[in-house]
Amino acid sequence: MIPSVDTGPTGGPDETPNQTVPDPPMNDILDLLAGHRSVRRFKPDPIPEPHLDAAVRAGQQAATSSNIQAYAAIRITDPATRTRLVALTGGQEKVAACPLFMAICGDVRRHRLVANRAGVPHAANLEGFMLAVIDATLFAQNMVIAFESMGYGTCYVGGLRNDLPALHEVLGTPDGVWPLFGLCVGRPDQEPSVRPRLDPRTVLFDDRYPEDEAVLAAIDDYDRRISNWYRENGIRTPDWSSRIRNHFEEPHRTANSAWYRTAGASFE
Ligand SMILES: Cc1cc2nc3c(=O)[nH]c(=O)nc-3n(C[C@H](O)[C@H](O)[C@H](O)COP(=O)(O)O)c2cc1C
Repeated sequence: MIPSVDTGPTGGPDETPNQTVPDPPMNDILDLLAGHRSVRRFKPDPIPEPHLDAAVRAGQQAATSSNIQAYAAIRITDPATRTRLVALTGGQEKVAACPLFMAICGDVRRHRLVANRAGVPHAANLEGFMLAVIDATLFAQNMVIAFESMGYGTCYVGGLRNDLPALHEVLGTPDGVWPLFGLCVGRPDQEPSVRPRLDPRTVLFDDRYPEDEAVLAAIDDYDRRISNWYRENGIRTPDWSSRIRNHFEEPHRTANSAWYRTAGASFE
C-alpha cells in the first residue's frame, strides 16, 4: 500500500513550503475577546429575560467534564439580599447596583440526588471538587462572553467567598452546592481601558516549561508595560510584580476549606 502523504497547503510534497508568516486571524469573536475589560459601574436598565436565557444557554453549552454539568447560578433579585451581599463581599457596591447579580456555584447536589434515589453511594474527593470548580468556571466564562457579545459589561466577584457561613445563610445552599464567585452584569456606565496581559509567549511554551530566568525576564518586560497602564489609569501601583508580592504575602480566606468540607466537599 502506498503511504499517504499530507501535502499540506503548499501542494505536492516536493514543493518548497511557503515561508511567509500568515497574518493574525481576525474575526468578531476574537475582537470581542480582545476587548474584554471588567465593568464596575452599570446603568440601571434591566436585562430582558431572553438575554439572560441566551447567556445561560451559552454557558451551558461550554464543555463540561463527562457532561456532568456540575454548576448552578443563583440570581439574586431581592434588594435587601443584595445589600447584605455588599457587606459580605467587602463593601462592593456594584453587587447591589448592577441590574443582574448571580452567585455561581459548583453543584454536585443533583448528582447526589440521582445516586441517593438509586440507593448507591456518591463518592466525594478532591477530583469531584475540582470538576465542579472547573465546570462552573467554564459555564460562567461562556456566559460572560455571551453577555459581552450582547453589549453588556460584567465583573466577577471573588469577594463572595469572604464569609461562606454567612453567605450560606443568605443563599440557603444545600450540601453539595458550593458558592464560588459572583457575577455582576449590566449595561456599562463607564468605559474602562483594556488591561494588558503577559506576553502570549510568557504563558505558551513548547514541549517543556522554561527555566526560571526566562520566566522572570518575561515578567520584567510585563512590569514595564503594565506600569505605564497603571499610570495612565491613575492606579497607584508600581508594577505587576509588586501587586503579586502583596497579594500572596499572606494566605487569604483560610477558613474556606473547612466550610466547603461542611458543605460536603472533600479535598482527599
Ligand atoms: C474569579 C474572579 C474573581 C474576581 N473578583 C473580583 C472582585 O471581587 N471584585 C472586583 O472588582 N473584580 C474582581 N475580579 C475582576 C478582576 O480583578 C479582573 O478580571 C482582573 O483585574 C483583570 O482585569 P480585566 O477583567 O478588566 O481585564 C475577579 C475576577 C475573577 C476571574
